[in-house]
Amino acid sequence: MLSKHMAVITVLYFYRTGVALIVMIDVIQRKVGKMQNFTYLLWDSSTNEGAVVDPSFDASAVLSEALKDNIRIRYVLLTHHHFDHVQDAERLSSITSSRIVAHSSSPVRKDMPVEDGSRLELGNSFIEVIHTPGHTADSCCYLAGGRLFTGDTLFVGECGRVDLEDSDPESMFTSLLVRLRSLPDGTVVYPGHDYGKTPFSTIGEEKRSNYTMKERTKEEFLSFITS
Ligand SMILES: [Fe+2]
Repeated sequence: MLSKHMAVITVLYFYRTGVALIVMIDVIQRKVGKMQNFTYLLWDSSTNEGAVVDPSFDASAVLSEALKDNIRIRYVLLTHHHFDHVQDAERLSSITSSRIVAHSSSPVRKDMPVEDGSRLELGNSFIEVIHTPGHTADSCCYLAGGRLFTGDTLFVGECGRVDLEDSDPESMFTSLLVRLRSLPDGTVVYPGHDYGKTPFSTIGEEKRSNYTMKERTKEEFLSFITS
């Protein structure tokens, strides 16, 4: 599945002169392997500086797109440590001389450990880290130019499992219903797997139609998610 969108235009800075700098983030989505994983290439089209989110089993598809469009990959962004998301990360990092980014608590090799609120420069833009534990303790979402890469925290129409060894349903309540639910409705959601009726969505659409994102108290959510 390939989805290449027109850029979202984000006005990031106003100089003292009042002149606005317009920054555009482009995204390519590719499906990889036999577990319906998605991998992504995102880049600032004003500088062609890019990043790959979750190389999964094979980054070749996004790497060839980057080479074709002369995009320099600066970061390999890992949403969490599960093998189906990270397997090709070190090879990609080596080929592109890019740095592997993961939460500080993650057991994976990380060249740039990040925390909630960390910001990574990408050309004239930024990638913001939102720590979203729940599926795993090291789960992070990455937000750039109104585009949110959610890994296994949020899928289209579903959320990630919270019955694994380092899952925490209570943390998932905060991640899903407090942190992600408070993002602007127009934020585009790019999930870690192709599990939904569409390959990507928006926060607004997920608030309307995803039964796991329905507004609930913490007690209601814990009862629902663990039943
Ligand atoms: Fe996972």
